[in-house]
Amino acid sequence: MKGPPMPAPLSRREFIATSAAAATLATIPVVHAGGSDLLRVGLIGCGRRGTGAATQALHADRNVRLVAMGDAFEDRLEESLATLLRDKEVADKVDVKKENRFVGFDACEKVLASGVDVVLLTTPPHFRPLHLEAAVKAGKHIFAEKPVAVDAPGVRSVLESCELARKKNLSVVSGLCLRYDWGFRETVKRLHDGAIGKIVALRANDYRGSNWGKARQKGWTDMEYQMRNWYNFTWLSGDFNVEQHVHFLDVCAWVMKDRYPTSAMGLGGRQARTGPEFGHIYDHFSVVYEYDDGTQLISNCRQQPGCKNNISGHVYGAKGH
Ligand SMILES: NC(=O)c1ccc[n+]([C@@H]2O[C@H](COP(=O)([O-])OP(=O)(O)OC[C@H]3O[C@@H](n4cnc5c(N)ncnc54)[C@H](O)[C@@H]3O)[C@@H](O)[C@H]2O)c1
Repeated sequence: MKGPPMPAPLSRREFIATSAAAATLATIPVVHAGGSDLLRVGLIGCGRRGTGAATQALHADRNVRLVAMGDAFEDRLEESLATLLRDKEVADKVDVKKENRFVGFDACEKVLASGVDVVLLTTPPHFRPLHLEAAVKAGKHIFAEKPVAVDAPGVRSVLESCELARKKNLSVVSGLCLRYDWGFRETVKRLHDGAIGKIVALRANDYRGSNWGKARQKGWTDMEYQMRNWYNFTWLSGDFNVEQHVHFLDVCAWVMKDRYPTSAMGLGGRQARTGPEFGHIYDHFSVVYEYDDGTQLISNCRQQPGCKNNISGHVYGAKGH
């Protein structure tokens, strides 16, 4: 689907002054080269997505440099750095000196103290509330991957940090990427304009195959094993109902103009993905959420091999579907 034209570019200063901008880092405009206009980026969580997010940030403007990296594990940081340096399109913008490569649980703190302007928060979600709070307090502009938390205290902390970011005029950009998709934006706009009348029900489906799990290796402590296999431990990922299904639950929140259900009843279990490499997360959930006006959101998600897959959202209105 072809989308509407992109908005006019902002100046770099306008961009970084735009709090909670509904835009990706890819909208950082082209600016003239010059010392003070250099945007220094720090990456916190140098895994698959972090490496991708850094690549996207470096593509966004010629005056961007990746200058600091932090990870819980040295091998992950070095692997990410090597990948970025192999990429001819961004390698000349990667300038992470040895003293700006930080490893361990305090890596985030050290990246924040290294003189960066923007941080990319791409660790497993358990750490996001802490990292987001620290980044806002340190006055950094932020790209934060989804999900932003794995539990209610984490969500409350993120809401407070975003409020503080607003007061400090800091940008916080979310990794909930469907909000930036032109097709979704146009569809949601039409729903908001009343295309199908009053919304009475929603469905969020995320039926897919199994996901990754890591076998424990000799010499790993319990902590290292769980950290390296984070997706499969609820305290780190929030389980896949949070970690993956959040995309379509967020589309429902968007369709409902950021109104949220007031009650929920659900069930879940672990039936096919039962090996030790899959930690203790479930492989299916079914939840019915209810809004205060009686509107229902039927949410199903499943990660099991050998089944029919379907990832989709459905909206039912008084005048159509
Ligand atoms: N928006 C999207 O479509 C999308 C796509 C993929 C991943 N993601 C999100 O990105 C996040 C990371 O996923 P991934 O696939 O890159 O995982 P990954 O395991 O490849 O990377 C996570 C990295 O964070 C590091 N890490 C863990 N704890 C840390 C800490 N306390 N401090 C610093 N580093 C730490 C790990 O060692 C690892 O290198 C997840 O929240 C995931 O949901 C979003």
